[in-house]
Amino acid sequence: MAKVIAIMNEKGGVGKTATATTLAYLLSQRGHRTALIDFDGQGHSSIIFGVKNTNKLEITINTIIRKLIEDEPLPDPGSYILKTNCGVDVIPSNSQLFTLERNLCNVDFRERVLSQYVDTIKDRYEYIIIDCMPQMGTPMINVMMCADSIIVPTQAELLSTQGLAELLKHYHVISKNSNHRLRIDGILITMDSPNTILSAQVNQMIQQGFAGKVPIFETRIPRSIKVAEAVLYHQTICEFLPENPAAIAYSQFVEELLSCEEADGKELIGVG
Ligand SMILES: Nc1ncnc2c1ncn2[C@@H]1O[C@H](COP(=O)(O)OP(=O)(O)O)[C@@H](O)[C@H]1O
Ligand SMILES: [Mg+2]
Repeated sequence: MAKVIAIMNEKGGVGKTATATTLAYLLSQRGHRTALIDFDGQGHSSIIFGVKNTNKLEITINTIIRKLIEDEPLPDPGSYILKTNCGVDVIPSNSQLFTLERNLCNVDFRERVLSQYVDTIKDRYEYIIIDCMPQMGTPMINVMMCADSIIVPTQAELLSTQGLAELLKHYHVISKNSNHRLRIDGILITMDSPNTILSAQVNQMIQQGFAGKVPIFETRIPRSIKVAEAVLYHQTICEFLPENPAAIAYSQFVEELLSCEEADGKELIGVG
């Protein structure tokens, strides 16, 4: 059964999509069966994985959720899952997803609709990565209800860390009362400019505010214009320029994530 990892931060522009797509790409390159659910109406993950015009897509994650709400049969996954050349299966999204919050109000068990869908594809994959939208609300509660873990990309700027406390509040309530599996894998600092005063200050602030409460990945992703340039070629930075410092850092981050998973697994079965 897949591990479901949500890439979440209620602030926009902090590197959620860059992290979600690159993580999915690298897991797939390592031979893991990996799917990515684009759960943002902007459809940026879908675009990075090759969709030219998201509004021409016939079936998106929004269509699927509407069918679940209306208790209609789901389409065959073969009719909407995009099979990319790099091996990642993408469940795409477009601007219709902006109506989700409204569509979910008055629905019974509205926090569990995404879980219902994820349960139908979970046995096909080892990892399901969810690229989240930049607002808290019922759609994000849905993500927290079905995820096994959360990664929180945080841009190395002071304002980017402000949404973290709110996210943690929701995390504590949901992990305590509803989804006991849910963990925070860690805060990932993105768009870092090493050796600057700003970077040092943000790092100190994150350490002071969150160390001991939430894991913080040792790896930080440096800022590189090539990350944005890769999008023009519908690629992640690791495919576009594997030797770029941001690509190397993303590979190190995946190593760190997988080694933490391994350590957790050993702890659970009482070894090592
Ligand atoms: N490490 C990085 N260095 C430079 N630009 C980056 C980096 N990571 C992401 N970007 C760019 O910053 C913008 C916001 O990143 P994105 O991943 O889309 O954030 P979010 O999904 O949180 O809104 C995009 O244009 C993206 O290409
Ligand atoms: Mg995004």
